[in-house]
Amino acid sequence: MSAIAALQERFALPATLHFEAGENGLTRAVFTTPHAQAHLYLHGAHLTHYQLTGQAPVLFLSGCSEFAADKAIRGGVPIVFPWFGARSDDKSAPSHGFARLRDWDVASTTLHHDGSATLELSLAPDQASQKLWPASWEMSYRVTVGATLHLELSVRNTSDTALHFEDVLHTYFVVGDVHRVGVEGLGSTEYLDKTDAMQQKRQNTDPLHITAETDRVYLNTRATCVIDDPDLNRRITVEKRGSDATVVWNPAQDKASKMADLCDDEWPRFLCVESGNIGPHAITLAPGATHTMSVTISA
Ligand code: BG6
Repeated sequence: MSAIAALQERFALPATLHFEAGENGLTRAVFTTPHAQAHLYLHGAHLTHYQLTGQAPVLFLSGCSEFAADKAIRGGVPIVFPWFGARSDDKSAPSHGFARLRDWDVASTTLHHDGSATLELSLAPDQASQKLWPASWEMSYRVTVGATLHLELSVRNTSDTALHFEDVLHTYFVVGDVHRVGVEGLGSTEYLDKTDAMQQKRQNTDPLHITAETDRVYLNTRATCVIDDPDLNRRITVEKRGSDATVVWNPAQDKASKMADLCDDEWPRFLCVESGNIGPHAITLAPGATHTMSVTISA
């Protein structure tokens, strides 16, 4: 029996969730619920599509993404773990950690009374991850697709020493034109400016308007953010728990043109508003403890 047939037999939810070969043959789960459709790849536990019935897609996915087994998918919701960006003590280690490069296991599927569905994936160390990051841990990722999108990432420390890590749900949102959206929720908040040698600054205005390359780590914020999009005539709400940092990123023309897995004209059509725990908010977990971060997206 093929791997997809085995998943189908054990975990499919009739008329709501099935498994299939997606782009480049990578296995994905396809959700078809009364309110929304979604695609979730086992490669990286990477959600690439979420769309409310009758609306434009909520998540941006690059038409130039490679869907290669050793690369992260460009767009959707990459999972950043156990470090954010380049690793400070090893520049050759993969950007944003290894969780988005691994194939995750399916743990369970659940159909809820309102027609929404949850797929739970799990990840544990393997030889390659142990080389990069010798530690003992378990992760679980629960994705619930319905009238809202609910993402819940849990990390459990299964070792007998403290576990120190960063994590981010790196959500890419479709926008009509990045120059015309306003991001609400970050007024009067301090941030590290990655485009200006990590200087710490304070955002005065609310909403934030994107006028150039933007790469900011907002500190000490649990605020709900809203992307107000006049062109698509919609407001995307990003509500989070268990996260003390928010990253806002758009590469703009110059950086985008150097990214092989982003098509040239795509950068004005997405904005990343990411929820996580990074830098001064990195998590230290006691032995046996679990940390959970969740994000609820509505549009
Ligand atoms: C953002 C970072 O979260 O991710 C940016 O703040 C980075 O600095 C971007 O460029 C994309 O990273 P990657 O590794 O997916 O190209």
